Amino acid sequence: MRKLETWFNIILVSTGILDLIVLTTSAATEKGKYEAECHPTPNSLSQVYILGYGSLLNTASKNTTYPNTGINIPVNVTGFSRNFNCKGTPVGHSTTYLGVDVANSTTSFNGVVFKLRDYQSLLEFDKREVFYCRKLVPLEDIQFLIDKSWNATVEQDFPVGNAQFWIYDVKPEFLGWPSERYPIVQTYVDVFLAGCIEIEETYNLTGYKDACITSTQGWEYPWVNDRLIPRRPFLHTWKAFQIDRLIQSHFPKHFDQVLIEKEAKYNFNNKNGSNKKVIGNYLQTLFLAILLIVPVTGTI
Ligand SMILES: *[C@@H]1O[C@H](CO)[C@@H](O)[C@H](O)[C@H]1NC(C)=O
Ligand SMILES: *[C@@H]1O[C@H](CO)[C@@H](O)[C@H](O)[C@H]1NC(C)=O
Ligand SMILES: *[C@@H]1O[C@H](CO)[C@@H](O)[C@H](O)[C@H]1NC(C)=O
Ligand SMILES: *[C@@H]1O[C@H](CO)[C@@H](O)[C@H](O)[C@H]1NC(C)=O
Ligand SMILES: *[C@@H]1O[C@H](CO)[C@@H](O)[C@H](O)[C@H]1NC(C)=O
Ligand SMILES: *[C@@H]1O[C@H](CO)[C@@H](O)[C@H](O)[C@H]1NC(C)=O
Repeated sequence: MRKLETWFNIILVSTGILDLIVLTTSAATEKGKYEAECHPTPNSLSQVYILGYGSLLNTASKNTTYPNTGINIPVNVTGFSRNFNCKGTPVGHSTTYLGVDVANSTTSFNGVVFKLRDYQSLLEFDKREVFYCRKLVPLEDIQFLIDKSWNATVEQDFPVGNAQFWIYDVKPEFLGWPSERYPIVQTYVDVFLAGCIEIEETYNLTGYKDACITSTQGWEYPWVNDRLIPRRPFLHTWKAFQIDRLIQSHFPKHFDQVLIEKEAKYNFNNKNGSNKKVIGNYLQTLFLAILLIVPVTGTI
């Protein structure tokens, strides 16, 4: 009887272990499959480009991830819309970033393409774009706003033949319009619009920076000014004056409506709460004191 029981237990434990192995391997396979679908291996036979539409438009921001890439070349992309629809991390104070959606041939946005010079850079950009999966954009949807004869550097970085263009597309679990919890933040808008102004100035384009605003959806959602020194932004914000002028020309009420996110506001609101708390503590202490004093002195 005892022997039978032992055997039974051994079988039970082994099936458990087997199940665990099967489950772990299938979870690992699922994860591997998801990863392969999210970051497909590029075709090694053709040039690899990334299509930037948010902070990657800004050379300094792009450089922080990987400086050794081709220069930003301005393009207009049809069949996609650019939206504030990528929720950041749920931890701590958060924000909504830009994303793109597949739309129809009447929808377009302006961005940049830049050439990757090595495989490592692709891995670095995949790591940077943590809320996104990488997708191919067909060449016929991309219209170049300058041609390769601009100068020697551009010519060297201009796509030839069957180049592949990758765009970062929001992962389904991070999709969502801005909200009080995930507002648009000015410092991100600053990086984006400074990039647009940079491209317009670099290539002497007309209307490029304005198209950055008009071909982006979602500006009407909650938006806060989180600049470090919001009343003298030029100290910390590159191209602050041009950005503010550009914003004002499209959203005349912006500076009345987009509030400065300041601690003072929260202190003020909290004052009520903390006053209540202080009074609460005071009453609690008094109560404890009475409890302690009464038995000792026996006066009440
Ligand atoms: C970005 O990096 C490139 C290559 O290292 C460099 O030539 C360029 O000056 C950098 N630009 C900015 C704005 O950081
Ligand atoms: C094209 O897509 C945009 C954005 O999704 C949408 O607003 C518009 O109605 C669509 N147009 C047509 C013709 O389907
Ligand atoms: C892109 O090109 C199309 C066709 O020329 C034009 O209608 C559209 O306004 C352009 N979009 C942007 C954002 O530049
Ligand atoms: C070509 O133009 C780009 C963009 O204006 C600039 O970054 C680059 O330095 C220029 N190269 C030469 C060789 O003039
Ligand atoms: C920029 O454009 C203006 C007007 O279109 C033209 O007069 C000027 O020469 C251009 N500058 C460069 C550097 O191409
Ligand atoms: C502060 O408390 C009072 C009374 O409870 C309330 O009427 C008022 O709205 C509160 N103010 C704020 C800013 O929360």
